[in-house]
Amino acid sequence: MSAKVKIARRVAGFGTTIFSDINVSAQRHHAVNLGQGAPDFDGPPEVLGAAVTAVNSQLNQYAPGLGMQAVREAIARHAERFYGQKIDPTCQVVVTSGATEAVFAAILGLTDPGDEVIVFQPVYDTYVPNMVMAGVRPRYVTLRGEAWIFDPEELARAFTPRTRAIIVNTPHNPTGKVYSREELGIIAELCVKYDAVAITDEVYEHILYDGVPHTRLATLPGMSERTLTISSLGKTFTVTGWKVGWAIGAESLVNAVNQAHQFITFAVASPLQAAAVTALGLPNAFFANLQATYQGKRDLMLDILRGAGFRAFKPQGSYFIMADWRGIAPGHVKDDVQFARWLIENVGVACIPPSFFYQDSDKHLGKYFTRFAVCKKDETLAAAAERLSRLGKA
Ligand SMILES: Cc1ncc(COP(=O)(O)O)c(C=O)c1O
Repeated sequence: MSAKVKIARRVAGFGTTIFSDINVSAQRHHAVNLGQGAPDFDGPPEVLGAAVTAVNSQLNQYAPGLGMQAVREAIARHAERFYGQKIDPTCQVVVTSGATEAVFAAILGLTDPGDEVIVFQPVYDTYVPNMVMAGVRPRYVTLRGEAWIFDPEELARAFTPRTRAIIVNTPHNPTGKVYSREELGIIAELCVKYDAVAITDEVYEHILYDGVPHTRLATLPGMSERTLTISSLGKTFTVTGWKVGWAIGAESLVNAVNQAHQFITFAVASPLQAAAVTALGLPNAFFANLQATYQGKRDLMLDILRGAGFRAFKPQGSYFIMADWRGIAPGHVKDDVQFARWLIENVGVACIPPSFFYQDSDKHLGKYFTRFAVCKKDETLAAAAERLSRLGKA
């Protein structure tokens, strides 16, 4: 007799993520998968080699909860090298299981049930479920138009006496927006006014196009003491499966994250932490080359999509392109989910329907878009191009 399992209310409404659905469907139809933001190529050999060496050097037992000292020092040096931030590695860094755990631990450690946290939509898909599990109410501010800008008045209205935090993801998934210094200034002023914490998700900090600079909110006036900066190895070093991330900031903020982290994962894979020291210490040329490589892929993909009839928006960073599909879909396709299914089944290319990045009442805002990931081998992009080029010729 099978047990009758009662799923807890805090997770019952979640369903499976759209990424899983698309991956399963893409596999079934042998589609070229430009859906999930996971590269289909490997990271720098010296970083991979450092992990192998660590495994073979008996670095296979628990690391300290805050992270290995050498990694925390490497994270602090990286913050100083790229942003001039001065971070004390002994108390202002915590190493987490990817940026994903850092965001969740930050929400758990910094909010109480009934508090509010502001997010910009389209919103990366883990934040709101994290809030639901913490009993926190999300407040949405919408990014609009080709440049994905927010209305400062809408943002000001979202702040209330219950606001504990705002999450800012820059460069942004799924739009590729990079928040300007001016936009971050508006956010900073409101955080100071309402005594709110900023939690920034900067996992795409090194994937930038056309010379657009990445500004760290923590470096704006009044923000160093109230910003928790989160990032990870995954995107920058093409090791998304490693799940090594971190949160840095004022000691009190890092303590709050660690209060939760110590009872979620406690510590992060030791050999991968050892490899993080090598990764974060790579010379500036590595980071410049990364940008050049991705800029090439973004430009190639923009040409492919525009050539196929999409109205593709040009991202400033991250590895995604948002594109309006109305120019190419047949009349029976009515929304982004139907479009994604149609593209997989009839063209053999997978993409992500972005309505899932909006709250229920605003899903229509994502209806005519689709999201493509460019973090793929040139051969993969060429295979997608070949399939997409048949569109309109049937
Ligand atoms: C905005 C954003 N944050 C976090 C993550 C996940 O980061 P990690 O693998 O370090 O947990 C992703 C991955 O797609 C992302 O796009």
